[in-house]
Amino acid sequence: PAVAAPVTVRALVARGVGADLRVEQVRLPAPGPGDLRVTIRAAGICHSDLSMVNGTLAARFPLVLGHEATGVVAEAGVGCRLTVGTPVVLNWAPACRTCWWCQHDEPWLCAANTAPTVARGETDDGTSLHLTLGLGALAEAVVVPESAVIPIPAGLPPERAALLGCAVLTGAGAVRNTARVAAGESVAVIGLGGVGLAVLTAARRAGATPILAVDVAEAKRDLALAAGATEFLLSDDRLSKEVRARTEGRGVDNAFECVGRATTIRAAWRLTRRGGAVTVVGMGSRDDMVSLAALDIFHSARTLRSSVYGSSDPDREVPELARAALDGTLDLSPLVSGVVTLDEAPAAFDRLARGEGARWVVSF
Ligand code: APR
Ligand code: ZN
Repeated sequence: PAVAAPVTVRALVARGVGADLRVEQVRLPAPGPGDLRVTIRAAGICHSDLSMVNGTLAARFPLVLGHEATGVVAEAGVGCRLTVGTPVVLNWAPACRTCWWCQHDEPWLCAANTAPTVARGETDDGTSLHLTLGLGALAEAVVVPESAVIPIPAGLPPERAALLGCAVLTGAGAVRNTARVAAGESVAVIGLGGVGLAVLTAARRAGATPILAVDVAEAKRDLALAAGATEFLLSDDRLSKEVRARTEGRGVDNAFECVGRATTIRAAWRLTRRGGAVTVVGMGSRDDMVSLAALDIFHSARTLRSSVYGSSDPDREVPELARAALDGTLDLSPLVSGVVTLDEAPAAFDRLARGEGARWVVSF
C-alpha cells in the first residue's frame, strides 16, 4: 500500500480580520484513520466566509476560507467506506448520529458540531491553520473526516455541484423542511444572494405563488426573476404596503430572511400575514438585537423560526438534490454568476461585499 504522506496545496488564507486575502501554500496532514483527502474541483464563495473575514462572525486565524465545495476522493485513510475517484460534496455540519439531536432526527443541530473553526494543517512556516466550518474548502485539496463527505452521482458541472453543499441545501431545506411551503402559498424572500436565490428556486419548485423577491440592490431584479420570483420589489419604506397589495391586504404566508440582520428580520415579520411564518435563513451577528412588540407577537400569531442548514439531513438530501439537478427538475444555472480562478478569489470576495451577482465560484 502507498505510504500516506502530507501534501502541500494552494489555499485562500485570511491572516486576520480585515487583512488582505492571499493564496498561500498549505501543508495538509496525511489522512488519519477515518479521514479522506478530497481534491477540490470547485468551491463557492458564501457570505459566511466574508463575515469571518470582516469580523461579523467570530473566527480564529490564520483561516483557510471556503465551506461550499465539490471534489473527488483522492486518498482514503484506514477504515473509510468511500473509495478513490468518488465524486463528492463537502458537508460543514457532519452528524455524529449518536447525540440527542441526531437520535431525534435533527442531525443539522448535531451537538458534536458547534465549533466554528477547527485547527488542521499548517502554513509553510509551521503555523497551525484554522478551517472555515471545519472544511477550508477554497483550496486545491482538503483532509476531512469521512462524515463531512457526501458521495454524489457523477455528471454535474462542478461549479453547480459545489453549491449543493451550502446555498442550495440551505435554500431548498428552508422551503421544504423548515417552512414546508405548499403549492399555492405566497412567499417573500428578503436578500437575494446565493442563499436567497436558492430559496426562490425551491419556492418555485414547491408551486408557491406569488413569489416576491426583495433586495436593496436593483441589480438583483433579473437574477431573481431567472431564479423563480414572480416579481422583484425594492426594499424601502413602502415594502410592506407593496407586499400587502399583492396578497389581498394580508401579507405573505411565508417570509424568508436571507440577509442575517435585525432590520431585515423585522421587515420579514412585518410583511407576513397574521398566522404566517417567518423563517430566518441568514446568519446574523451576536450583538444585533431584534425588537418586536409583545402585543404584536401575541396578536399577529406569527411563527418566527430559524433554518440551520435547511433543517436537513445532508447525507440524504444532497444526493437527492444532485439527482434533481441532473434530471433537470432543479435548475441551478441562475445561481452561478461567474467562475474564477483561486488567484481571482480575493476580487470575487470584493464583488460579494458590494452585493454584485449571485454566487461566484472558484474552479480548480
Ligand atoms: N434589505 C434587503 N436586502 C439586503 C439588505 C436589506 N437591508 N441588505 C443586504 N441585502 C442583500 C444584498 O444586496 C445581497 O443581495 O442581501 C443579499 C445578501 O447576499 P450575499 O451577500 O450573496 O449573501 P449569501 O451568501 O446569500 O448569504 C446570506 O445567509 O449563509 C448566510 O451568512 C450568510 O447571513 C448570510 C446569508
Ligand atoms: Zn455558506
